[in-house]
Amino acid sequence: MCGIVGYVGKNNAVPVILSGLYKLEYRGYDSAGIAVIENEALKVIKTKGRIKDLDEKIRSYGEINTNCAIGHTRWATHGAPSDVNSHPHISKNGRIAIVHNGIIENFLELREMLEAKGFEFVSQTDTEVVAHLFELNYKGNALEALQDTTKQLRGSYAIGVVTADAPSEIVCARKDNPLIIGIGEGENILGSDIPAIIGTTKNYIILNDNETARVTCEGVEVYNALGDNVSKEIHVVDWDISAAEKGGYEHFMMKEICEQAKAVKDTLSPRITKLLPNMSETKLSPEMFKNVRNIHIVACGSALYAGLVGKHIIEKLARIPCLANVASEFRYNDPIIDENDLCIVVSQSGETADTLAAMREAKKRGAKTLAIVNVVGSSAAREADSVLYTWAGPEIAVATTKAYSAQLSAMYLVAVYAAMSKGILTEEMAMGYCKEIMDLPELIDEVIKTREQVQYLASIYSNRSSTFFIGRGIDYAAAQEASLKLKEISYVHSEAYAAGELKHGTISLIEDGTLVVALANDDDVYEKTLSNIKSVKARGANVILVTNKNVTADPEICDHVIKIPKTIAELSASLSIVPMQLLAYYIGVYRGCDIDMPRNLAKSVTVE
Ligand code: AGP
Repeated sequence: MCGIVGYVGKNNAVPVILSGLYKLEYRGYDSAGIAVIENEALKVIKTKGRIKDLDEKIRSYGEINTNCAIGHTRWATHGAPSDVNSHPHISKNGRIAIVHNGIIENFLELREMLEAKGFEFVSQTDTEVVAHLFELNYKGNALEALQDTTKQLRGSYAIGVVTADAPSEIVCARKDNPLIIGIGEGENILGSDIPAIIGTTKNYIILNDNETARVTCEGVEVYNALGDNVSKEIHVVDWDISAAEKGGYEHFMMKEICEQAKAVKDTLSPRITKLLPNMSETKLSPEMFKNVRNIHIVACGSALYAGLVGKHIIEKLARIPCLANVASEFRYNDPIIDENDLCIVVSQSGETADTLAAMREAKKRGAKTLAIVNVVGSSAAREADSVLYTWAGPEIAVATTKAYSAQLSAMYLVAVYAAMSKGILTEEMAMGYCKEIMDLPELIDEVIKTREQVQYLASIYSNRSSTFFIGRGIDYAAAQEASLKLKEISYVHSEAYAAGELKHGTISLIEDGTLVVALANDDDVYEKTLSNIKSVKARGANVILVTNKNVTADPEICDHVIKIPKTIAELSASLSIVPMQLLAYYIGVYRGCDIDMPRNLAKSVTVE
């Protein structure tokens, strides 16, 4: 989704903003822009397209020397991607420029009010009302104008403003949209995310909802909703800028696929002591699980599919009824959840609007909340009662890989801990599970070795227009993630089906050459899945079988076998998903797709 960078300091702001915008590209966008104050005049340059297009456009203006600027990447919501709809937006008097992430829900009524006062609108965006409203409220103090403006806004926002009157000052505000401020020496920088600021400083503060700030070269002042000055904790980024760079790989996605063993190991190691789950760093307690009635997992996309695996293993090991809910549906479905229940939110970014809204609904109804989240200090992490961080490190590719794998690991830990808390698993049994879990990183590295075989298969099947992923139980949960990966990266239509459900209608779509990828890694249902595979093979499908069994291709069953290592069935998604990620990746490459920034997608979806 949209991204913000703002810089004020000792260096020329333009290259700093451009470098920050390049770092935010991964969030997904369709246009970009920059506003600078040069010689006390405001200059705005913006364009539809990529940052490199903006970069070229800026160069065409000649050298710009300024110590203060704001920049933006826009992911269109109100109004198509175009030069005019790009941010920054300028006020009527041309002396105020603003960038905004989020959605202003009352923009129509504000627009009518402003039009009645003579303000003219040039774009279709909701953001332009903020620029004009700011001008209406401006009496010479930008921070006060912003505070007055935000009081009139409904919706979600992260806002950055520069004014020609105060050429070395940026004011900013946040509600339900992330904004951090990097604290440097003689320079300060705001950004939507750490990669945008890390080139300038590793020290940063997190703006909370309804806070506003004034940022100058000398310092940062933060104010709460009442207008009181507040002091903020300074966080330090604990990873290096190289972690957010490609490091010799052609795409971030491949780099992140290859980093999965480390992500899983880093997530597990601090939480397993003497082969038993150690949750001391979280606020989880055995009592919580002893007495819990239901667990509701809420998440979106891949995080939801990690939740589906979690549901299986929690129910299997701890015998606690567990629902994996689509977050965008949850709060509108009058969910049956109260103080007897636990809500687990799963999110890489910790900023997904639907997931946050679902968590807030669960909290409102009295449920305890646990966030399994990757971004430290994100909204989900701050608002949940307990946090279990996935230590996957920065994930840049829009399609998640290593964060999903780390989420599975966190789910396994919760399941074993819950089962022990309920007295269902003895210490000895729990140690057995933990041993298998701790073996996963090594096995994941082993599966990455299927890379060449998968690339070959992708070369054969990249021209297929439709693909089915089938499996039972955990394999079905992994199939759903596999299908999403293929859709996202290669734009090939695909569906995930419970293997036994195909015959109830969807099998009519199977014809000569339809690609079916079958996952079969659970001994208990292996034979049943084989029967389902035979029925698609008999109807002309090309079948790739992903299994831990020692089998070879058989004309009655499958055309190809991708052999993965054996682990217990409950953990098998951690291994079966790897060749599926590789398949999506290579099919995407063969089809010439934009692997790290697929069309229409955003890394962190901060609007409902
Ligand atoms: C995954 O590849 C997708 N990009 C998407 O489904 C993602 O998992 C979803 O939007 C949830 O994001 P989150 O984990 O940051 O909450």
